[in-house]
Formats: sequence, structure tokens, C-alpha cells
Amino acid sequence: MGDAWLKVEAEAKRLASTPLLDLFAANPRRVEELTFQAPHLIADFSKQRIDGAALNALGALVQAADFDGWRAKLFAGEAVNNTEGRAAKHWALRGADSPAAVMEVRARMAAFAEHIRPQINAIVHLGIGGSDLGPRLVLDALKPLRVSGIDVRFAANVDGADVADAIDGLDPKRTLLIVVSKTFTTQETLANAEFVRAWGPAHLAAATAAPDKAVAWGVPPENVFAFWDWVGGRYSLWSSVSLACAIALQDGAFENLLSGAAAMDAHFREAPFAQNLPALSAALQMWNREALGHGSYALLPYSERLRLMPAYMQQLEMESNGKRVSRDGAILERSACGVTWGAAGTNAQHSFFQLLHQGVGEIPAEFIVNAGRHEGPVSHRAKVFANALAQTRALMVGKSAAQARAEMVAKGMSEAEANRLAPHRAFPGNRASTLMAIDALSPEAIGALLAFYEHRTFSQAVLAGINPFDQWGVELGKEMANALLPSLEGGAASSDLDASTAAWVKRLG
Ligand code: F6P
Repeated sequence: MGDAWLKVEAEAKRLASTPLLDLFAANPRRVEELTFQAPHLIADFSKQRIDGAALNALGALVQAADFDGWRAKLFAGEAVNNTEGRAAKHWALRGADSPAAVMEVRARMAAFAEHIRPQINAIVHLGIGGSDLGPRLVLDALKPLRVSGIDVRFAANVDGADVADAIDGLDPKRTLLIVVSKTFTTQETLANAEFVRAWGPAHLAAATAAPDKAVAWGVPPENVFAFWDWVGGRYSLWSSVSLACAIALQDGAFENLLSGAAAMDAHFREAPFAQNLPALSAALQMWNREALGHGSYALLPYSERLRLMPAYMQQLEMESNGKRVSRDGAILERSACGVTWGAAGTNAQHSFFQLLHQGVGEIPAEFIVNAGRHEGPVSHRAKVFANALAQTRALMVGKSAAQARAEMVAKGMSEAEANRLAPHRAFPGNRASTLMAIDALSPEAIGALLAFYEHRTFSQAVLAGINPFDQWGVELGKEMANALLPSLEGGAASSDLDASTAAWVKRLG
């Protein structure tokens, strides 16, 4: 890896001071050469600070990390999650040739959906993290495909306001409660589930990798939909975790989501690095972060239906790759994960885009548009595209102080005032972005998009040499919360607390 990194760093040094616009001038074929396709998805990397030589260096890095070998291990079902001794086979949930147990649960979900729809007018889905974010996103993204007459409410937070809102105004006699928890031990989910169960919903179901625990808790065995320990929480939306989607979306939509993801699996599995969209995109993330020094990126879906993508991606990327040791436990030399943040455009333009355009540091941005049919007023579609394109272009092209000054003078401003304002109204430009488009807001395209991001996350982990499938980093806080709970419930305060925490226990207890 050492030599490969030296070459990448040399390319980064060369390009760091090269204006993006010069890269276009140097190569009239730049856009074609840096536009890549995968099922349902097209990505334009030409506004990124890369060129052919840089991509070659990244390709060598990918080879040095044994990308081909790790990808083969993933799809062979080897125990790539080496700290828990597990495979990571989320991809096996979505193929036409999925294992028999998977097909059986999928068929039971479809039958249950058909059976329960006429009996309910609401679903309360309780889960958190991977047991919440995926189905929430999918139902939001595919709202036009919802069956009519079924309201779906989610609650994840252990702040009681969330679950109180979730049942507000619902009729328990017409409500299905779905408890979604891989482990069926998560404090927040069980607390919310107990509260809603006591409210008396007529129907109870569960999605879990611990079916015995769900049955012991009181879910009828025939309403328990299993998944398996080889499905990581944040990779689980393809499983029974999405029971609410199977019920609340029209027949076939959930299956089409799976087939779109399977198409992306085939692309990721087969395409060589030079055409492999998830792997190329991962290499670019690594490049922006570790070679060019940009520690975060903004994820900007220009689609209201994809507004939950940043939250979903925060768990996928930062829970997977927020690690500081390699697979073998050695301290990493380079970070394996940046900070993912963002919001839907165009709203975001009116809040944090100021920082993207005129802040001191560069923050690479990733724009996603829906190139297919849009809902609502027909004339809005062009406006969404105009805004997305304008932003990627403005980030790159910028506006010099001289130009800003000339514009103000042309509008009649005095030279002195124009000089004073010019630094404030200039845009440095030369800021990198990616523009991606899905071909429709269809189940297939959403499936492909989310699978693309899963494989990109895995590819990042391979490049960094880490295991992306465990999440030990969430445990310490959980342990401490359990230890603090008795004293906040009125019990004796623990004597071995730090002074700050002890003072807060006293204040809030
Ligand atoms: O907090 C970490 C985590 O384990 C996530 O990885 C997971 O998606 C979430 O909690 C919920 O866990 P469970 O599905 O077991 O309730």
C-alpha cells in the first residue's frame, strides 16, 4: 500500500493547485471519460479534481488493497466481519436465487400483507438505526406507490414525544404494531414497544433475527418474520425489516426494489475497477479526504422524496467505516471515514450553501437528481434541474472579485462602494462536486441507488483495510446509559462517576 499511496499523493500534489476549469481545457473528452454508468444510475465525476493519471494511481491503490479478493470474499459468503465471525450477505436477500429461507420469509411477508391490509388503517413501525432508517426512506421515496387508506407512523427515539406522536389520533382496533429489532434487546425500541402494546393495537408483528425473543415478548409466532445474523442492521432494509413497506406499498414494489438492488450487485460484482461505479466512487471519496484533505462531504439530493438520504447515509457510512483500527487491530495511518452530512436541495441552498460557496475550506458535494418523471406541477421539473446544475457549476466556476466589482459598477454603484463589497461578493470557485442521476423515482432505481451506496461503503472499507460490518463503537454509551438509569429513576447515585456526570445526575434525577 505504501508505494501506491506515494503515487496517489504525488498526483494529488500535482492537481491540488490545478484549477478545475483547466482540466476541462486540457481534455475535450473529459466529460465522456469521467461519466460512468451502472444500472439506473449515471455519475459525472468531471467536476472532481481528478484526471486519467490520478484515476490510474487510485486504480493501483485499489489493487494494492486487494479489492478483487475482498469483493470475492464478500460474495462467497466468507466471514468478512472478522470481529463477530460472520458473513455479510445482505446481497443474498435480493437476488432471484436467494436462499430458500429468504424466499420463504419473502413469500410469508407478501401473504401477510395481503391478509392484513383490509383489517387495518395504520401501521406503527418501531425500530431504530438500521431497523428504522431504511424503511422510513423507502416509504417516503415511493410515496406515489402507497396503497391508499394505510397510514404508516414511525417512532425510534426514546424521547417519549416520538412514540406519543406515532400513535396520536390512531384507532388501536385498526392498527398493526410492527416491532423491528435485529437483537430484540434494544432499549429504545423495547420501551416504545411496551408503551404501544399497552395502548392495545389489534395486531402485533415483529421483524427480528431473534424470533424466540419476539415470541417470548408476546408476538404471535405466525407474525414473526425472521432475518439472520449475516444481515447487518444498516444493511437490513432488504429483509423483513421492510415489512411495513411490503404492506403499505402496492404489490410488487418491494420485489422491484430488491431487483434493482440485485442489478447493482451484478454490476459491482462483475465490472472491473475502471468501470465499477461503487468502487470508483469510493476511491474518489478516499482521494478527496486523504489525498486532498477534505474531511467531510455534503450529500445533496435534489429530490424531496429523497430528503431522508443524508440521515440514512450517515448511519451506513459512519457506523460502517468510523473505525480507527485495521481488520487486524493495528492503528490506521489514514482515516477510513469522513463526515457525511447534507439535506435536500433546493432547501439547502437557502441554509448552508453559503459555507459551500464562500467558506474558507472546500467541502466536496454530491448532488443527486431524478432524471425521470416528476410529481406535481410540470414546470417545477426544469426549475429543480436548473438549480442543481447551477450549483455544481457555480461551485466550480465561481466569480472573481474583478467580475463582481465590474457588475456592481455597471449597475451604477460607485467605484469605492464596489471595491468595498467586491471581496464579499466574489466566489472562489474551483470547488469539486459530483452530479449523479437516477433514471426514475422507481422501486428499481431506489434499490439500485441504495445498493450502490452499500457497495461504495464496502469498497471504502477495503481501501482503508477495515471491517465495515461491526459497530463496537456504539456499545460503551449503551452500557453507561444502562448503568446511569437506576440513579436517574430515583435510586442511589453511583459513587464512581466523574464530577460533571455526577452533578448532572443530581440535577436531572
Ligand atoms: O446502535 C447500533 C445498532 O446496533 C445499529 O447497528 C442497529 O441498526 C440499531 O442499533 C438497532 O439495533 P436492533 O435492530 O438490534 O434493535
